[in-house]
Amino acid sequence: MSHIIKINTCVAFDEDAEGRKTTIIRQCGKVKMLEDKIWNLEDLDFDQSFDVHVGIAHTRWATHGAPSQLNSHPHRSDETIEFSVVHNGIITNYSDIKQFLLKKGYKFESETDTEVIAKLIKHIHDNHPDLSFRELVEQVVQQLEGAFALALKSVKYPGQCVVARRGSSLVVGIKSKTHLATDYIPVLFSKDTTGKSSTESEKKKKPEGDPKDREDHRPCHSSTIPNSTASLKRSESTTEFCPMGEDKEVEYFFASDASAIIEHTNRVIFLEDDDVAAVSDGNLTIHRLKRTLDDTTGREIITLKMEIQQIMKGNYSSFMQKEIFEQSESVINTMRGRVNFERETVVLGGIKDYIPEMKRCRRLLLIGCGTSFHSAIATRQVLEELTELPVMVELASDFLDRNTPIFRDDVCFFISQSGETADTLMALRYCKMRGALIVGVTNTVGSSICRESHCGVHINAGPEIGVASTKAYTSQFISLVMFSLMMCEDRISMQPRRSEIIQGLKTLPEQIEEVLKLDEKVHELSKTMYDKKSLLVMGRGYNSATCMEGALKIKELTYLHSEGILSGELKHGPLALVDQNMPVVMVVTRDPVYPKCMNALQQVTARDGRPVIICEKGDAETKKHAYNTLEVPHTVDCLQGILTVIPLQLLSYHIAVLRGCNVDCPRNLAKSVTVE
Ligand code: G6P
Repeated sequence: MSHIIKINTCVAFDEDAEGRKTTIIRQCGKVKMLEDKIWNLEDLDFDQSFDVHVGIAHTRWATHGAPSQLNSHPHRSDETIEFSVVHNGIITNYSDIKQFLLKKGYKFESETDTEVIAKLIKHIHDNHPDLSFRELVEQVVQQLEGAFALALKSVKYPGQCVVARRGSSLVVGIKSKTHLATDYIPVLFSKDTTGKSSTESEKKKKPEGDPKDREDHRPCHSSTIPNSTASLKRSESTTEFCPMGEDKEVEYFFASDASAIIEHTNRVIFLEDDDVAAVSDGNLTIHRLKRTLDDTTGREIITLKMEIQQIMKGNYSSFMQKEIFEQSESVINTMRGRVNFERETVVLGGIKDYIPEMKRCRRLLLIGCGTSFHSAIATRQVLEELTELPVMVELASDFLDRNTPIFRDDVCFFISQSGETADTLMALRYCKMRGALIVGVTNTVGSSICRESHCGVHINAGPEIGVASTKAYTSQFISLVMFSLMMCEDRISMQPRRSEIIQGLKTLPEQIEEVLKLDEKVHELSKTMYDKKSLLVMGRGYNSATCMEGALKIKELTYLHSEGILSGELKHGPLALVDQNMPVVMVVTRDPVYPKCMNALQQVTARDGRPVIICEKGDAETKKHAYNTLEVPHTVDCLQGILTVIPLQLLSYHIAVLRGCNVDCPRNLAKSVTVE
């Protein structure tokens, strides 16, 4: 259900000539290997034996357990494959369900949590044969705990496919040769548990505990769902509805990510938690079992701006390499229409109405995981300076572990490239329940974090496919800087500083181009490092985040041990690691902590360390102490981290290539971690 090439791939086809057969084909390795296998299967003649209308497929790499054909999806209900299912996420109560099914005589063939879904649906069907496929799925999902996006098919219901989500993303693609009859699919409620009329139920609920009765503003969806649904048939029952009018040429796609289906269509619906969508006889319907107070009456069909070229590698050898080189362009897209360099104004449309409330807040919290967390560290200092507010930066998992106190007048930023990271999403819900203002900073339109935020910023970096995040980091960085600039627009005393930063932003794209020219030099340097066991990255102040992010890139891509060390801590332990054999990269730029960085540099060289220094162009004094240098252009101190991180992205890329690592799909890691 995801677009990235992973370890296990498999597919289930439906319906032979008699319309009663499912075939499951599995293959470890890249998707291409599955394709080859399918076409080379001697006993499978597509033209003769299949009239395929519905297929489900799944591609993943194993983060838990060994990748094996047995554990790969689809999982089946029984040997005759009455029901088959693919699943993203985790079923936390699977062992209880498994025990129940074992007692009923079901035999399990894999070690996965997913298999219980296939067996459970068969069990319910055998006991309630009159239920429709969609009703069966509704019964099943009520028994499941955890996070899931599911797609199911069944020989008992030929030509049908049912999907459901809770906690994991699920998008519907709609491809039609003709103009769609609607921009909106109504939600059909199987059972109205509120006992209220539709109109009452449709009234927008204000966020719980919100101090200022703020509206639940969701900027991620620019157009709004029509208020009047009179022309659309909505039902409290299971009445079928043909949203596409008479258009029978419609094809539907379900996927975990829009980029998986963009080559077919850019018209999509992002399903909400607890939605069950069904395709039957060429009609799409969306259902919910229970109506809650803040349910909207339908799901909007959105037209994505994403182009297929954006998710192609082009002339690059990997997506990551392409994404590193795109940064001069992606930062422009992040600022486009938002920064006016002549007037020196910044407007982030998705949050501008909330700025007065933000200015009155108790504190700002920036919460994320991995690289997104580092972008928060990178911008904390400028946020503190320009907003004059206390700024807390939190790893989502640790924040939740601590049951951190949250107040109604807190403003909480959730930073996430994918907008789906489970820990970040959980932290968001935790803060929202406590009445804080929720701001999403994501790269993925329609993602869960977008939809569940009160307001937010799209970083507009374009699709990021490589598992190791690169361009999203620099765009998150810029987005948070733009926010801090908005917060001090009316502060006369801050105008010179604002002006300096805005002019710095203006020249960034060409400076990034210049940094990217270091590629060959970094390549040469990587040859001296790729066979080492460890690599230390040191710096402080504005460059602290560069060290942490650089070390993260090295470890995730090259599997070398790497540590980002804040130079102030050097003498409290890490200095013991330094000798002439330990590769060390130091970031030393001409900002207010330059003298302290020079102290650290001398401490390293005094222990026979041979540091490679990332420094500013033409800084002869610093270069004197270097074993080798990577020179980047000078920019404003608070933006320098954007230029210093790029050589480290390149370094990790080249070391990974030299070590024969899979650059786009590092072992054991996933692009979007949708389980806690
Ligand atoms: C995964 C990815 C990282 C990413 C992190 C947070 O671990 O491998 O590259 O930084 O998730 O992802 P997010 O989508 O929330 O930014």
